[in-house]
Order: sequence, then C-alpha cells, then structure tokens
Amino acid sequence: MEKPKFYITTPIYYPSGNMHIGHTYTTVAADSMTRFKKMTGYDAYFLTGTDEHGQKIERKAADAGVTPKQYVDKIVAETKELWKLMDIQYDDFIRTTDERHEKIVQKIFKKLYEQGDIYKSAYEGYYCTPCESFWTQTQLKDADGVKVCPDCGRPVELAKEESYFFRMSKYQDWLIEYIETHPDFIQPPSRANEMLNNFLRPGLQDLCVSRTSFKWGVPVDFDPGHVVYVWIDALSNYITALGYLSGDDSLYQKYWPADIHLVGKEIVRFHTIYWPIMLKALGLELPKQVFGHGWLLFSGDKMSKSKGNVEYPAPIVERYGTDALRYYLMREMPFGADGNYTNEAMLTRMNSDLCNDLGNLVSRTVAMIEKYFSGVIPAPGEFEAPDKHIIDMFEALPALVEKNMNELQFSLALAEIWKLVGEMNRYIDITQPWILGKSEEGLPRLKTVMYCLAEGVRAVAVHISPVMPSTPERIFKQLGVEDENLKTWESVQKFGGLQEGTVVKKGEALFPRVDIKKELESLNAGKEPAEAPKKEEKKEKKPAPQKEEKKAESAPEGYVTIDEFFKTKLVCAKVIACERVEKSDKLLKSTLDIGNGETRTVLSGIAKWYSPEDMPGRTVVLVKNLPPRKMRGIASEGMLLCASDDEGNLKLLTVDGGVFTPGAEIG
Ligand code: MSP
Repeated sequence: MEKPKFYITTPIYYPSGNMHIGHTYTTVAADSMTRFKKMTGYDAYFLTGTDEHGQKIERKAADAGVTPKQYVDKIVAETKELWKLMDIQYDDFIRTTDERHEKIVQKIFKKLYEQGDIYKSAYEGYYCTPCESFWTQTQLKDADGVKVCPDCGRPVELAKEESYFFRMSKYQDWLIEYIETHPDFIQPPSRANEMLNNFLRPGLQDLCVSRTSFKWGVPVDFDPGHVVYVWIDALSNYITALGYLSGDDSLYQKYWPADIHLVGKEIVRFHTIYWPIMLKALGLELPKQVFGHGWLLFSGDKMSKSKGNVEYPAPIVERYGTDALRYYLMREMPFGADGNYTNEAMLTRMNSDLCNDLGNLVSRTVAMIEKYFSGVIPAPGEFEAPDKHIIDMFEALPALVEKNMNELQFSLALAEIWKLVGEMNRYIDITQPWILGKSEEGLPRLKTVMYCLAEGVRAVAVHISPVMPSTPERIFKQLGVEDENLKTWESVQKFGGLQEGTVVKKGEALFPRVDIKKELESLNAGKEPAEAPKKEEKKEKKPAPQKEEKKAESAPEGYVTIDEFFKTKLVCAKVIACERVEKSDKLLKSTLDIGNGETRTVLSGIAKWYSPEDMPGRTVVLVKNLPPRKMRGIASEGMLLCASDDEGNLKLLTVDGGVFTPGAEIG
C-alpha cells in the first residue's frame, strides 16, 4: 500500500547573518515532526532554505566589500553546516537565488499580471533616504512632533515610486470565509482571530510587489528596472522547490498542498493572508495548516540578529551534544507560546531529565542485569501489579505521543514519555531488586523486574528518536538490541518484543551531570560583553544585589516595597481592535498592540461605559504579567487599569500627552 504523504516546511531564513537558536528552534521542530511522521509510516518531505534577496542583504554585502551572492553563499554554507550539526535531515534546501526558483517566480509574476491580479501604479509613502526605505504613517516614530524613520531615527519625506501592486482586496471576503470555515488552517486558533480582527475585517490594502530602488532581487522580465519584492519571491519557494511550472512537477503533484507550514508568529500574517491569496489567484490548493509558534525570548525580549541578543547553538552542542539542546528546545515551552531561553534552564533540564531520570534509568537497568544475570536479559515470569502498571503505560504511550505530536505539542509528547521514565525509576524503588537479588526465592521476581525494565527502556529509546535522533542508538547498544525490527514504531505498540538472552553492555553515561555554575561561567567566558542592556534587563538585573540585603527589610503594614511594586509590569498598549463578548453585557474583548510585534487579547468589564467602536486607537495601561484567565471560554492575557467613581462607573486609565510607543514601560 502506498504511504500517505506529509509535506512540512520551515520559513526560508534571511542569510543576513548566521542562524541562531531562534532559527534552530523552528528547524528542530520541523525535523522532529518529519522524523516522527517517517517513523509512523508516512512518506514525509521536509523543505527548508534561505530567502536571499533584498536591500538589506545588498547593503550588508556592500559593507563587507563582496557581491551579494558571495555574501549569501558564505552564510548559506555555514547554515547547512549548522543544520548538519543539529542533525537536521531536510529533503531539500531551496535558495531564492537558485535558477529553478527565480525562473518560476518570473512566470508566476507574469501570470498574475496577465490575468489582472497585479497592476502597475505608484507607491506613495514616507521615505527615509539614508535607509532607502518606505514606511507607512503608522510605522513612523515620533520625535518631538517630527515623524522619523523607525530604523535610523532620521526625518522622512513623502515620496513616490513606480511599483506593481497585487489586488489583495479582491480576495478579502473569500479569505474571511475560508478561514472561518477551516478552523484547522491557522493554528493555534488565537492567531486566526488575530488575522481576522486585525487585518482582514478592517480591510486589506493592495500589496506592493515590485521595487525599482534596488537591484538584488528577481527581475520582472517584462519590465526591466523592477525586481520582485519580498513576499511573492519568498512565499513561492514552497512550490518552486517542488518543481511547480518547471516541466517536471512530479514532486509538486505528489506533495502539494503542504500539510504544515511552520512559522514564527511574526510572519503568520504573510502566510495566512498573502500566501493563500496568491495561491487562490494561481488556482492552486491552499496549505492544510499554518502553525505560528511563539518566540524564544532572551531576557524577556525576542532573540534576534538585529537586536544582537542572540545565543548560537554550536558552543552548547560542542559541550553537551546535539540531543541535549534539541530536547531542551522541544521540551521547555509549549509550542505556540513564547518562552525565555536561558543556558541555566537548559543545563537544569539536562541534569534533571536527561542525566538523572533517563541516564540513571538506563545505567541502573544495565548495571543490575550485569550484576544479577551476568548481562543476559532473563525471560519474565508471571506479571504482578507493579509490572502490569508499567506494561499498561508502555502500551498506552504510542497513542498519547502520536496525539500530541500531531498537534505539534512536542513538550507534551515528551512529558508523556518522561512519565514512563519516572514510573520506571519508581518501579525500581518499589520492587527493590537489591533485596530480591539476595535470595533464591527472589530470583523469579527479579527476572520479571529486569525484563520489564529493559523492555521499557527500549520503548523509551524508540519514542524519543524523533526529537533526539542519536541517543536511541547509544541506548540500544547498551541494551544489546541489534535487530532493526526492535527499533521501530510498530515494535513498541505491544509489550514484550525484547528477546530473552539478549546481552547488555554497560557504556558511558548518556549525559554528563554538570556543575551549572561552572558551566555558565565557561559558556559566558567566550562571549562579547552584552551591548547596552535592554530596558527590561536594566530593571530586573540592577536591583538584584540589593535584593539580597533588602530581603529582611519588609515594608511597614499597609505599604509595599519598591521591589514589590515593580513586580507588577505595567505597560502602555494600543487598542487595535475591540468587540463585544458574546452573551455578556459587561465584557469587551480588546486586541492590544504591546510593542515588538506582540499582541494581547484582554477582556474587561467596561461594556457599560465604552462601546467597541470607541476603543481602537486608544493608548491604555495594561498589567502585563498577570497569568492568563479564562472568561466565557476566552483567555484574557492581562488587565486594563480603570478608575472607578463613587457610583462604580469605570474610566480607563490612559497616558498624559500624546502617543506612546506600545510596550513603553510605566513606573
Ligand atoms: N525570510 C523570512 C521568511 C520568509 S518565509 C516564506 C524571515 N526570515 S528570518 O530569518 O527572519 O526568520 C524568521 C523565522 O525564524 C521565524 O519566523 C521563526 O521561525 C524563526 N525565528 C527567528 N528568531 C526566533 C526566535 N527568537 N524565536 C523563535 N523563532 C525564531 O522572516
């Protein structure tokens, strides 16, 4: 029977600098998913690549004194090395400078132009001459009443450039309906609401799809001087890599539509608005799902090359191995949510989950089989309650892992596997093999216990293999498992595959136990000193030494200390959309811009005093670090501050004097 197909992609990354842990996160997730699908019987195809055109790269190359192609070639080679180091097994790596890509982008552009979806006009906007960039009014920053470039802070001027535009508005109603009737298309679901409320329902603007102010792009073949601008070039990669319109489109026929486009949350908009509209205009099927995962944060801020606050994988992998980092990335935070990356948390997990829980389980199991049965796995006797508990967990595990993996909930899938690891460690404590081994009568029980442990460890090795591809072989070697049939997904559906008589062999500890403090010192030793600390860092880091001294000093009754006060994070937020909450006459649901591309949904009991139309555009005060709370089935991610008069009428708190950048801290 033919295997079902599964096509997964990562974004194609900008090779403007080297890839860091943030890019690694998406790529490891896609790789783990692909490996899982392959293991569970799919014909899976995994595409990644690089998005190499544009003015930024053109400039970086000029600064480095090389051609843009020379510039990207070097970074692409390093990226491929990094993916090798991270054990990433992609099926194809597409570069937007590949001829196979450029030719088809030209064909796509022409087709869209000829059928009237793309038209020529002029782009009018605020232009920053030193940056050679157009900005919309809302993107500009305000410096003492003067509109300035958000990148360099210099004044901008109104300017015009001849451009081609994509008639997005034509497809708006169709897309709204599509999203509403295909709840799986955008995941997690909160991102679908964001797209509908913030972009689609307010109305789509036509998209500028060509530029004349730089050369480093795919030329528009019927209009010299224009190059295809960003998103048509970049998004097409998902089909050009499969040979769409190339004369040999067998891969396209086989794998399109994509099953999952994995992307960071900041580019969900391009993948769920521009991309479906492009595909619809081309008469092609839409991807089945776009999953927008959260960001790895670094000291509360998005890790990114332009902010310079990045961690790179190589030093970590060199010290602790690829699997330790892969495990941490997939285990630490729920896929979809943001989470802080810290080396300390990574080392803590390594010590506890990998070294203590898994490593010890394997080494204890092998050591006991060596000690009590000269290294030969015995046949089990009759199963008793504690054994049956392990067997039940063993047999329930595949379904639990499969469900979570299919929902891209890597951390939950791993948590299920670690439940079995934990229970087996407990099983050793309960069954007390060291006592059973002391007498002849204990031997039959001991055999059963050793068999159950070895068989359980085998299952764990199989289950972790998508996320940790090299650890299972090390476990199999210690268990003496050579038969490839005992390393498969099928072989862990039913307990009992492991053969008695298999000879185990103690090996090195799977993961080293490290002294976290010392390791952190070594990891930080080679690093450049951090640039000017970010605002948030300043606040969190500076008071730290004083905190110790202040610990004893609590505030008098009825007061809070300044440290206690600053635990509450207050920020300016801008309301970008608002609606009533169904079946509630009290609640309004506001979507807030809180800076750095991040949005929040907040429910407030203010419907009596504010109508939804009153809200967009207001700058409000948000308590940012309250745990999310569900009301009427909707998670409210914070609280808007209000003042209340004697009659209990509410007024929203706002900020005196003009517009504040969303995210600006209060305090
Ligand atoms: N070239 C575009 C994507 C075009 S796709 C048709 C681009 N490139 S990028 O180099 O900026 O990569 C962005 C992607 O890298 C994010 O969407 C995410 O997948 C990953 N990440 C980069 N930094 C990240 C974090 N700090 N945290 C999590 N993912 C991160 O956008």
